[in-house]
Amino acid sequence: MAPLIWIIHGPNLNLLGRREVPIYGKTTLADINHRLESLGRDLGFEVRATQGDGEGEVVRAIHAAWDAGAAGILINPGALAHYSYAVRDALAAVLAAGLPIVEVHLTNVHAREEWRHTLVTAPATTGQVVGFGPASYELGLRALAGRAGSDGG
Ligand code: DQA
Repeated sequence: MAPLIWIIHGPNLNLLGRREVPIYGKTTLADINHRLESLGRDLGFEVRATQGDGEGEVVRAIHAAWDAGAAGILINPGALAHYSYAVRDALAAVLAAGLPIVEVHLTNVHAREEWRHTLVTAPATTGQVVGFGPASYELGLRALAGRAGSDGG
């Protein structure tokens, strides 16, 4: 069985395609997930995607990825990235256990409002990709696949 990569989308990302279109674009979350499933297959991984609007849901999704023996986590924490120490701590726990984690953002958060410049989650990840729209996820998945290895390790 192909090793698993767990994709976690945080709050409001279910609205992609109709949410502040000039900022976030017209691509829907379903489109992004389809692309990631197919890219994941090409890279030798099974991809499973979840979305949650609450901090607890995102924390539980991180735990679930660990419990499921995932080979890595690709996460867009949405606004939680800017203030959620609970999400950061959950990521830190799985990162310390050896799971690679890539954080992505569609927009270049560093070029937006000042409160978006702080990413409290970033230090608890292997690396980040920001600012490339839906391609942030694809670049992140490629980087993660390189770290996770296709042997499940
Ligand atoms: C986002 C950036 C966040 O600041 C924002 O709260 C989001 C989306 C992005 O992907 O660009 O919900 O994570």
